[in-house]
Amino acid sequence: MMNMDMRLMQERLKQDPVYVEMFAAAGYGELKQTAPYMHNGTVATLEEVVAFYNRGGGDDANKVPRLKPLALSREEQADLVAFLEALCGDPLTGPEHVWTEKIPAHYQAIENWRDVRN
Ligand code: HEM
Repeated sequence: MMNMDMRLMQERLKQDPVYVEMFAAAGYGELKQTAPYMHNGTVATLEEVVAFYNRGGGDDANKVPRLKPLALSREEQADLVAFLEALCGDPLTGPEHVWTEKIPAHYQAIENWRDVRN
C-alpha cells in the first residue's frame, strides 16, 4: 500500500467522501506507528499479524477456502515482519497532519471503539 500525501488526501476528501474510508485505514507506510492492528485493534504486534496469516487466518465459517496455513519458518516470518517494517517511514506527527475540518462521514463514529466487539 502506498503512503498517500496528506494534503492530497485532504483535497480528495473535500471532493468525495468515499475517500474517508481510505483515510481511516492506515497504509502500510505507517504500520510501525499504528499498532494495534486490524479494524478492531485485536492484534497487538506485527509478529502476531504474520503468525495469524501463517496459521491460515482466523477461525471463521465464512473464511474463503483459499486461505490456508503458509508453513513459514520462524526465520521467514521474521523476514516478513522486517519487510513490513522496512516499508514504514517517519511518524506523521505535527499540526500539518491533524485533521481540523468536519469529517464528511455518512456514518456515526463509535466513541468507545476500543471497548466494543463486532
Ligand atoms: C502473509 C501475508 C499477509 C500479510 C503480511 C498481511 C498483513 C496485514 C497487516 C499488517 C494488516 C493490518 C493492517 C492494519 O491494521 O493497519 C492486515 C490487514 C488485513 N489484511 Fe492482510 N496480510 C496478508 C495476507 C492477506 C490476505 C491473503 C488477505 C485476503 C485474502 C488479507 C486481507 C486483509 C484484510 C481484509 C485486512 C483488514 C482486516 C481488518 O481490518 O480487520 N491479508 N494484513
